Amino acid sequence: MSVEGVRQWRTDRARAGKRVALVPTMGNLHAGHEALIAAARGQADTVLVSVFVNPTQFAPGEDYAGYPRTFENDLATAGSAGADAVFAPTPEVMYPFGSGNATQVDVPALSGMLCGASRPGHFRGVAGVVLRLFNLVNPDAAFFGEKDYQQLLVIRRMVRELFVPVEILGVQTVREADGLAMSSRNRYLTAAQRSQAPALYQTLERAAEALGDGAAVAEVERAGVSELEKAGFRPEYFEVRDAQTLAAPTANHDRIILAAARLGRTRLIDNVRIAG
Ligand code: PAJ
Repeated sequence: MSVEGVRQWRTDRARAGKRVALVPTMGNLHAGHEALIAAARGQADTVLVSVFVNPTQFAPGEDYAGYPRTFENDLATAGSAGADAVFAPTPEVMYPFGSGNATQVDVPALSGMLCGASRPGHFRGVAGVVLRLFNLVNPDAAFFGEKDYQQLLVIRRMVRELFVPVEILGVQTVREADGLAMSSRNRYLTAAQRSQAPALYQTLERAAEALGDGAAVAEVERAGVSELEKAGFRPEYFEVRDAQTLAAPTANHDRIILAAARLGRTRLIDNVRIAG
């Protein structure tokens, strides 16, 4: 679909009084994406999936060129998961003046910490492309995975601050049978690394249990880093935060433990919520 095609598609849906949901993706669809599409299907009359490997959210030296592009499979997967249409623009369509000089959207309150600290500019790229998609599609609702928790909060914040009339809905992380969060990047893992990878989630679960038993935050964070190192990871961060603001946790607020760690050249992220 072209830009005109998307706009026409949207206008037709509006005329028919349909509630439209958008599921933004970078393709290489897996069961995590399928859960988003199914949630959207359950909540709206029409579901549009976008497939776009967004150059502006990759830093130089990251995996933009090598990111898995599996469009034919994605079309079939999106359809069988319940999508009504797929929008797969080229970079020229999304960035008509080039991606280097593109107008930017910055959410500074949430973008410098955690993943933003090791991936400078990443969330600016994400916010920029998601706002473009919102403006093009004008969806009633858009669905994002809790696996990328910081991303979900960045989008929520952007939408509130810029008065974008879209409802943002989060979907629980979909996992492999052994607990590893599904991710397009899991395919980079060697067989040996794949068998080490579930330790990320196991470490988060243990940390959540320790916090529930009253362990101190600093101690839980230290133990998490050290367990990940022992399991063969190079941890980037292992942090307990307030689940609404990502600031340091305070008593009686929902907390979340977020972690990022490398296994070889693959960067994995995951998180676990702690209620109460
Ligand atoms: P991508 O990594 O393709 O993910 C698309 C959506 O699927 C995101 O909202 C992500 O959180 C969700 N997702 C990925 N793995 C999941 C899992 N295991 N369980 C539940 N949801 C999962 O995230 C992006 O693309 C991009 O940054 C994007 C938002 C499309 C902007 O370019």
